[in-house]
Amino acid sequence: MRRHFINTFALIVLCVVFLLSGFVVINKKSVVNNNKKGHGEEYVGNYVSSTKSSASRKKFTTPRKKHVTKSLNELPPMDHLNAHALFLNTIPKSGAEVLVLLLKWLQGRNSFKHVKLKKENNNKLTIIQQENLIYEVEDTLRNEAIPVSFDKEVRFVNFSLIGKQSPTFFTLIRNPEELITARYPNLTDDYIKNCSTNDPGCLFNSNDNGIELNIPYFCGYSPRCDSLNDDWALAVAKENVEKYYPVVGVLDEIYSTITCLELKLHYFFRGATMMYKKKLLGFNKKKKTSKNTKKGDYKHLKKILRAEIAFYEWIKFRLFKDINNKRLF
Ligand SMILES: *[C@@H]1O[C@H](CO)[C@@H](O)[C@H](O)[C@H]1NC(C)=O
Ligand SMILES: *[C@@H]1O[C@H](CO)[C@@H](O)[C@H](O)[C@H]1NC(C)=O
Ligand SMILES: *[C@@H]1O[C@H](CO)[C@@H](O)[C@H](O)[C@H]1NC(C)=O
Repeated sequence: MRRHFINTFALIVLCVVFLLSGFVVINKKSVVNNNKKGHGEEYVGNYVSSTKSSASRKKFTTPRKKHVTKSLNELPPMDHLNAHALFLNTIPKSGAEVLVLLLKWLQGRNSFKHVKLKKENNNKLTIIQQENLIYEVEDTLRNEAIPVSFDKEVRFVNFSLIGKQSPTFFTLIRNPEELITARYPNLTDDYIKNCSTNDPGCLFNSNDNGIELNIPYFCGYSPRCDSLNDDWALAVAKENVEKYYPVVGVLDEIYSTITCLELKLHYFFRGATMMYKKKLLGFNKKKKTSKNTKKGDYKHLKKILRAEIAFYEWIKFRLFKDINNKRLF
């Protein structure tokens, strides 16, 4: 009885393996065909065709689909994320325009679609707005036959709030000291010093019109996410990065950022480093020099930004660690 059961089970496993390998071979063929018909780029997208030929392509969450992509080694290490949906939650004045531009240029050759979602008047969405965003992402994915990347100026949204699969988040952050001077060019050292004495009227401590640096964009919507130097907010931000963001880039290291994106989110960013070198390198250098002149004018800023600086250094460390790890394999 038990033996019979095991034999049957083995047979089923064999059948599944056989079917899957057939599926992969068919896909490989159609990739080659597509490539011949196409513009003859030498890099080949393995799972483009699995998306195109799969009958279940409209349901990105079906187990079968997931298995196929996984076997082709295209999933980011975070299996619970939707590998067909990228979400760039942009942070103002942090240079995300470069990434949006790259996505727009790459969408045709890498067979995905880029969708810019409308900016709300506040980066902090209400619950209703968060739900609407989740449904908007879901509907777009259902209506497009190919993977989709989104960008929106918004804080991290937890898709499990209504039980949906999270897209793969990524974004770009900027050194917090530079970010402050970019956003608030008229800040004075005296003003900053007053803030460090916990003045509730201080721009850094207030919730709604206060300075939003990087942590709130990863921490989310709890009021504590807005308080400066809050260890809980820092911990939540890090936890969300670990869970939902395979890559968080750093503006000062934009080339490494793009390298990491190409390594870890390969389907969307194939060819990105080449494209960046060819088309954007000069453009960014120009920006960098003007930006650097402002940094370091404020004695009291470092203390006020303790958690923000810790977060920034942690992100930077993670970026380089990931690039090195990826290159070893
Ligand atoms: C996301 O929402 C789910 C469901 O409400 C909750 O269990 C989970 O802790 C939340 N995750 C984060 C990072 O907020
Ligand atoms: C800087 O200017 C803005 C308006 O442009 C003002 O709201 C803000 O209070 C100013 N900040 C300081 C520190 O003076
Ligand atoms: C700093 O605080 C002192 C005392 O509360 C106040 O007199 C001064 O105007 C403040 N300076 C700034 C730049 O806000």
